[in-house]
Amino acid sequence: MALINTNPTGTAAWKKLREHFAFMENVSMCDMFSNDPDRVQKFHIIWGDFLLDYSKNRINSETLDLLLALAEEINLKDAIQKYFFGDKINATENRAALHTALRTSQKSLLVDGKNVIREIESVQGKIKLFTESVISGSRKGFTGKAFTDIVNIGIGGSDLGPDMAVEALQFYKNHLNLHFISNIDGDHVAESIKKLNPETTLFIVVSKTFTTQETISNATILKKWFLQSGEKEDVAKHFVAVSTNIKEVTQFGIASDNIFPMWDWVGGRFSMWSAVGLSIALSVGYENFEKLLDGAQQMDAHFENAPFEDNISVILALLSVWYNNFFGCETEAVIPYSQYLKKLAPYLQQAVMESNGKRVDRDGNPVNYQTGNIIWGEPGSNAQHAFFQLIHQGTKLIPCDFIGFIEPLHGNKAHHDKLMSNFFAQTEALLLGKREEDVIAEGVQNEFLIPFKEFKGNKPTNTLLIHKLTPETLGSLIAMYEHKIFVQGVIWNIFSFDQFGVEYGKQLANTILDEINTGNSKPHDSSTEFLLKFYSDIKTE
Ligand code: F6P
Repeated sequence: MALINTNPTGTAAWKKLREHFAFMENVSMCDMFSNDPDRVQKFHIIWGDFLLDYSKNRINSETLDLLLALAEEINLKDAIQKYFFGDKINATENRAALHTALRTSQKSLLVDGKNVIREIESVQGKIKLFTESVISGSRKGFTGKAFTDIVNIGIGGSDLGPDMAVEALQFYKNHLNLHFISNIDGDHVAESIKKLNPETTLFIVVSKTFTTQETISNATILKKWFLQSGEKEDVAKHFVAVSTNIKEVTQFGIASDNIFPMWDWVGGRFSMWSAVGLSIALSVGYENFEKLLDGAQQMDAHFENAPFEDNISVILALLSVWYNNFFGCETEAVIPYSQYLKKLAPYLQQAVMESNGKRVDRDGNPVNYQTGNIIWGEPGSNAQHAFFQLIHQGTKLIPCDFIGFIEPLHGNKAHHDKLMSNFFAQTEALLLGKREEDVIAEGVQNEFLIPFKEFKGNKPTNTLLIHKLTPETLGSLIAMYEHKIFVQGVIWNIFSFDQFGVEYGKQLANTILDEINTGNSKPHDSSTEFLLKFYSDIKTE
């Protein structure tokens, strides 16, 4: 069944939130902390290895009650059930959005009358056997040598999730070197090739559709490069594919044994739990891949069952709606205090912005409110020396998620304490600011300098403190954000699981490529015409 369509701005809760916002807009968080010694007790959630402290937000108990009332009024409970049950909530593509099935402990889940769990288990079995044979060295390349390098060829959801997870789980990795080739930029492939030996390199072509220009072009060039050393029949040893499009994969020349199927009910940006995560399993071993799935599954259970007031994803989503739709914040920053998570922000950019960057509601009418937020970020403490100036003293209000870990992986406690002291200090500084009298008390005597050294504070942050970065906690963290995205899409009454906006640029690129190749120009706007001519003239000089 489809999701229930409700314009959020028409709900009683939204109207009350609007009135309440007028009161809350300029309320000082510091005052709220001073007036309520129990504030942090009210606004935190402890779940497994996760602690979410959301007390440093511009909310009070009434705000939370109203946001929770909005979730009720919008019928979030019903939407969550449909999401986990495999209803075709991706209505514009007539599909379920069932990435949660890839990590479920359920034994049966029907999609179009078929139990998909059996198929999932069969593909997982294939991933397990395959990864074990590559890691152990029993599966060999065409000259009898074990594989040393794995190249994931894919883009968007077929690249960002695996790349992020492989980077995040580096501590757990084995001897295999992982490479990710995504960009259609030929320099990207050329640079990567320099590091590869065809005898010991395994290529995974990951493309749900197997029609994506970037992936097919890169795979073709890499196959050509491989064939300079190997024979045609050796391709079977070195190329495998992950796709729903078995016909195209076979046409490309990949043996049917080397195809890892996926399903149209898994969206690309939510697919790292499927065979799209083959590179993750190769990098850290199947057991760790299973732990990643397990961590995600635990978060799924929390999201499905916890009351909304104790539900991490629901609370994060509601806070985000509060800032996006009432304070008018356009962006959110994600700041993990772990270098391992340096690819988290790019990963979330696709997950969040491709999902919720929509301008029409589920009836196809333009929305009269803001939807998808802009996501950005970098690991701390680097970020502090890059863009934090603007968060602290700029004119924009930027809610931030701070993600930190209690235990470091390499046991360097002294370093970790320094890292974490920065982590705690930043959210405190963003909360407290620095008043004029504090600046003077610090000995600044030149009055002119005071406004430059003053911080207004009152900047909202969520602190997510996790015990340790493990495959399980990474799985939970990513699932947490997936569900946050889902909740926001439900509240905004949009379809979060299609991505038609990406298609138009692809179509135009094909037309332009044809013009460049044939020299037959087609009508364009005058700027594009001018640019194309300039490009072609210099190229042919
Ligand atoms: O960028 C658009 C998109 O369709 C993404 O949604 C998807 O993850 C990516 O392209 C790659 O698609 P495919 O896996 O089909 O090659």
